[in-house]
Amino acid sequence: MKYALVGCGRVSHNHIIAAIRNGLEIVALCDLDAEKIDAEYSRYGDQIGDVAKYTDYKEMILKEKPELVGIATDSGSHAEIAVFCIEHGCNVIIEKPIALSLEDADRIISAAEANNVKVCNNLQNRFNDAVQLLRKAIDDGRFGRIYYGAAQLRWYRGDDYYRQAPWRGTWAKDGGALMNQSIHDIDLLCWMMGDYVSEVAGMTDRLAHECIEAEDFGIAVVRFKNGGYGVIEGTTDVNRNSEEETLSIFGEHGTVKLGGISGQIVEQWRFDDGLDDEEDIKKRYGADPEHIYGLGHISVYEDVIDAIKNDRQPYIDAYAGRRALELILSIYKAAAEGRTVKLPVEKCSTTDFTGRF
Ligand SMILES: NC(=O)c1ccc[n+]([C@@H]2O[C@H](COP(=O)([O-])OP(=O)(O)OC[C@H]3O[C@@H](n4cnc5c(N)ncnc54)[C@H](O)[C@@H]3O)[C@@H](O)[C@H]2O)c1
Repeated sequence: MKYALVGCGRVSHNHIIAAIRNGLEIVALCDLDAEKIDAEYSRYGDQIGDVAKYTDYKEMILKEKPELVGIATDSGSHAEIAVFCIEHGCNVIIEKPIALSLEDADRIISAAEANNVKVCNNLQNRFNDAVQLLRKAIDDGRFGRIYYGAAQLRWYRGDDYYRQAPWRGTWAKDGGALMNQSIHDIDLLCWMMGDYVSEVAGMTDRLAHECIEAEDFGIAVVRFKNGGYGVIEGTTDVNRNSEEETLSIFGEHGTVKLGGISGQIVEQWRFDDGLDDEEDIKKRYGADPEHIYGLGHISVYEDVIDAIKNDRQPYIDAYAGRRALELILSIYKAAAEGRTVKLPVEKCSTTDFTGRF
């Protein structure tokens, strides 16, 4: 299957490794900055052989006609690139967030339906081993009724991180700690709690990073349509020695807490059914991954290739990406307007909050 990648920055290694591991024929790499392409190619050239290099993604799509395209550019450009690829018949794996406005997410979804291609939003942590284990416990009904869940992302990002690229922390191209860093944890919370949110209240602020426009701190409470509740906390302000990402689920018959640097360690695994030994589970799921991005990209690619071959929806589709986006925009809206926001929200964009801090 012919594959091409747009965006050769920090996260591009994960896409190239996933493409290689899944036997894709990498035909082209694209970046506005030719040096970035060369830097990536110098790492993997011996494994991928000859590839064409482009600084214009449209030219690349028209000439190479890839069947699958990875989009790993700044978040503000995902929608424009995705819609062009989709309208030219390419299936796409779009980095998170799917887009920065609901209108753009809807454009992607409509274009995919009209052109009969697959769209995956790369919320790869759904494939993490501990996350899959938790999801199976939910699917097996081991929690009974689930009362509430909590997603807490407490990371450190210094000004040097934000200054790596001009798009970081801007309203037009990124958003802040909730949209960029916490989105994985927020997606997992929703996925575990039943996907659909009915209302949200929240507060956001920019506490520590004057070099960015968007929030570096956000807290929210969420009511799900099925009657459960969620608590969300996301920040890039904590001390660099105390970073953690947790996901906790509290039900009638069980409590699970995932933690560690990126929610991949089982810290509590307690069920009334006594089916497994907590200490054994904690031993088996007890290590942080080598890198916080984890290995999920490989599974995402494997799934999308299978979805294309078997004409089914990807495991993490565009609707999932839209739901995560809608929830985060709703938190922004609730915080900005000082009121509870009821979902669904039809129109909202990160740029609606320009000048907020
Ligand atoms: N899934 C994850 O765990 C994860 C991790 C990191 C980043 N991301 C997401 O991946 C995306 C990229 O993040 P990054 O840290 O790699 O950013 P980056 O700034 O390091 O890289 C982005 C690259 O895209 C290029 N680019 C921008 N517009 C382009 C265009 N029109 N055509 C071709 N190239 C273009 C830039 O020149 C740059 O090299 C963001 O949306 C981010 O949220 C996801």
